[in-house]
Amino acid sequence: MKSKYLLHGGDYNPEQWLHMPEVLKTDVKRFKEAKINTITLGVFSWSKLEPKEGEYCFGWMEEIINNLYENGISVILATPSGARPHWMANKYPEVLRVNEMRQRNLFGGRHNHCFTSPVYRKKVKQINTELVKRFGSHPAVKMWHISNEFSGECHCELCQNAFRDWLKKKYGTIDVLNDRWCTTFWSHIYDSFDQVESPSSLGENSIMALNLDWKRFVSDQTIDFMEQEICTIREMGALQPTTTNLMYHFGGIDYFRLAEKVDVVSWDNYPSWHKKEEEETAKDAAFWHDVIRGLKRKPFILMESSPGATNWQEVSKLKKPGMLLSASLQSVAHGADGALYFQMRKSRGAEEKFHGAVLDHYDGNDTRTFQDVCKTGDMLERIMEVAGTQVNAQAAVLYDWENLWALEGSKGPRNKDLHYLDSVEKSYRAFRRLGLNVDIIDQKGSMDGYKIVAAPMQYLFHDGFNEKVRKYIENGGIFIMTYWSGVVDENDRCFLGGTPYGLMDVFGLRSEEIDGLYDWEENEICQPESKYAGLKDSYICKYLCQLVKPVTAKTLMVYGKDFYAGMSALLENDYGKGKAYYVCADAEQSFYNDFYQKLVQEVGLHGVWMEEIPEGVEVTSRSGEKAEYIFLQNFNRIAVQVNLPEGKILFGNKNGRMEPLDNIVVKVEK
Ligand code: GLA
Ligand code: ZN
Repeated sequence: MKSKYLLHGGDYNPEQWLHMPEVLKTDVKRFKEAKINTITLGVFSWSKLEPKEGEYCFGWMEEIINNLYENGISVILATPSGARPHWMANKYPEVLRVNEMRQRNLFGGRHNHCFTSPVYRKKVKQINTELVKRFGSHPAVKMWHISNEFSGECHCELCQNAFRDWLKKKYGTIDVLNDRWCTTFWSHIYDSFDQVESPSSLGENSIMALNLDWKRFVSDQTIDFMEQEICTIREMGALQPTTTNLMYHFGGIDYFRLAEKVDVVSWDNYPSWHKKEEEETAKDAAFWHDVIRGLKRKPFILMESSPGATNWQEVSKLKKPGMLLSASLQSVAHGADGALYFQMRKSRGAEEKFHGAVLDHYDGNDTRTFQDVCKTGDMLERIMEVAGTQVNAQAAVLYDWENLWALEGSKGPRNKDLHYLDSVEKSYRAFRRLGLNVDIIDQKGSMDGYKIVAAPMQYLFHDGFNEKVRKYIENGGIFIMTYWSGVVDENDRCFLGGTPYGLMDVFGLRSEEIDGLYDWEENEICQPESKYAGLKDSYICKYLCQLVKPVTAKTLMVYGKDFYAGMSALLENDYGKGKAYYVCADAEQSFYNDFYQKLVQEVGLHGVWMEEIPEGVEVTSRSGEKAEYIFLQNFNRIAVQVNLPEGKILFGNKNGRMEPLDNIVVKVEK
């Protein structure tokens, strides 16, 4: 979507209220009061749209869309494949999912379907065809929302066969598969593709390459299912952009690959605000917003967020005053072209009746949540010109789905949590606290244009990744890689002849051993005799300590304890026009903060706001043709004073005093 405005609105389920037209009337009135401009419809409407097989009943939806349109509200129209009617499961049981124990699910819940089933694909195609016929050229419909939160896997015979075909295509012959999967181990050699079964605790789950390929297959098959939906929409002539709502911390689908198939990336974000200090939660939310933006390196949409408490987290915590606005603005600051909610109106019964909503069962506009939504609507209106602007980053952190799968399934060096994601976030936070925008990229993404790239725990190297890193550094890039990198190939086969694979000369070292630490153990990364300026005397490290043998690399810091006290813990190697750094252990956050600050200063990198940033204040910027937009957000529980950049204050306090959860948006002409 060429975004001319920031979206404000969310998921709406009028099909639950068709018997109460007065409710539907109030809804639109309230939407206008709250400056709602976008409504997502139809996510779970299938049984109201096709109550009997082939009998479509779209009149109610048309009325709703027309009414919204007349009131100046646009529609994001969903395809209903996230949940299906009873009749379908009764007549075609193959649409239901089979679990890894090879048991078929009963009807119920949602997302409970086989992505391979030709019947399910056909039924989805039919309803999508009808939806596009009826609404594809409706002026209110601005975007297609494909299904809902794609996830899960199915182990039915149809999926097993599709998996075998996928493997045949990939490996050609069973001998190649045996070789790549190292099946001689425990005598697991396959005679034919027909013997391959998806991983199961009933049978095979000791071949890591099988597990890894199964994850790739599930991801591919889900994306293929989504593509089929998009294809129908296009075949039927609809021109609106497509999206699908992604999730927080979801490992099941390679989101970088999925993002290639949609026009706009969107996601659902439900941080547990107030569980920890807001500052901490904000840092994590910031990271995930940037992961999502990084998928296309373009503006995205916050498709769902809760206007109040959720009802599925361990505790349904209310959002304190100001939280909703800050959280919504934070998404915009990181590149969202709008903040949408789940849900517009609370359902009366079933699973989500207590989930936060713009309108609750009482219905009035004098609720605290409704007032907060109105304030957010006002704020979005005031910063509307930010829509469509880019977040430009000169620093990047690598986060790769296939690497995640391989790491998690690798057996060792620590089966009790490798803390991979924590290590990625540590690098991310160290850059962010300097006011730098940060892109999250995967190994397949281009590194051109970044001055500095951090690559924590790149255990699996995609084919050619080592060469890409080499070139990046050769051409002047600053590259930081950490322990447990370059260990296995795409089939989880260990590289022979020394690691990090293909980069030993670039980093000037060879990894020798890695020590897994118990949770209660600690080591230290400390200064050697020849002090490394800018860093403290020592930092705690935990969980994993890699022991390396320096060749040409210079040792900057050393271990402080255990039999490897005095051995290299941080190394630097000059290569080409750039520099390669290797961090050997899982160090505490302050190590990354100090170390990256030093490197960033050395390359002369800085954010658009040059002032010293108080801890707990988030600084982000978006860049338009004529102006930079600087966002300052105080996620501290105490007030702070900031020196504002010179420019026009679009939102917030002009004197720079920021109470907890205060926000300031400044426009600086270029
Ligand atoms: C997800 C779903 C929504 C709803 C919300 C509740 O994001 O997409 O349908 O269930 O969770 O938080
Ligand atoms: Zn299946």
